[in-house]
Amino acid sequence: MRTSIWMAFVMGGLLLIVGYWSAMGGEEGVSDRLKGNTARSEVIPVANNLYAKECGACHLAYPPGLLPARSWEKLMNGLSDHFGDNAELAPEDLNALTDYLVNNAADRSGEKRATKIVRSLKNDETPVRITEVPYIVHKHHEIPSRLIQGNPQVKSLSRCNACHTRADAGSFNEHDVSIPGYGGWDD
Ligand code: HEC
Ligand code: HEC
Repeated sequence: MRTSIWMAFVMGGLLLIVGYWSAMGGEEGVSDRLKGNTARSEVIPVANNLYAKECGACHLAYPPGLLPARSWEKLMNGLSDHFGDNAELAPEDLNALTDYLVNNAADRSGEKRATKIVRSLKNDETPVRITEVPYIVHKHHEIPSRLIQGNPQVKSLSRCNACHTRADAGSFNEHDVSIPGYGGWDD
């Protein structure tokens, strides 16, 4: 009797540890496979048709894991003046898409990239631009502006998919980068 209670206790503890470890992205491949992602996707790719349609009309449908929930809430509260454009939505779409973004935001996902994005921000920082997140700024600071702003095929760092050939699949791995007119990047 004593032994079986003790065993149950030990097994329960082990399950907790393993669960926590995989939730924290302990083994990259495993958590990706469980989500049905390809080996190289590091933020969850967009899998929401309404989002792809409404928020992918003018630019890449940015994966929700690139900003924390508080940023998405702020952005979705200001769609009538969205970086100078009107991107307003019908109320039911606004609610559905805000829920989608918040539930999959960087601070709600255990993925490696998302975790680094969250850690680079102070608690009171709420950027509405991914390109203002310190982690993202830092990752691009070695790229000369002639390859971004001065490059007619890129124009702005906001156009992730101009260089990240697998951005649609949620991969921002540097090995999948090809800068138009320049090519791959190895540093
Ligand atoms: C009518 C066109 C249009 C639509 C629709 C639209 N956007 Fe944008 N979005 C823009 C423009 C223009 C910018 C600024 C791009 C730039 O500065 O190069 C922008 C920028 C952004 C950025 C910041 C990118 C950066 O610089 O890091 C995010 C995030 C974003 N949009 C999310 C969304 C979401 C979410 C939706 C859907 C609710 C949406 N957008 C719908 C036009 C649009
Ligand atoms: C001008 C081309 C270009 C654009 C536009 C661009 N990137 Fe990058 N990105 C790069 C290059 C090149 C690297 C590798 C930099 C290095 O390692 O020094 C990189 C690295 C990264 C990394 C780190 C990759 C790794 O393996 O460590 C992330 C994450 C990333 N970019 C996300 C984004 C997002 C999100 C956007 C859009 C908001 C974006 N990038 C726009 C060229 C670009």
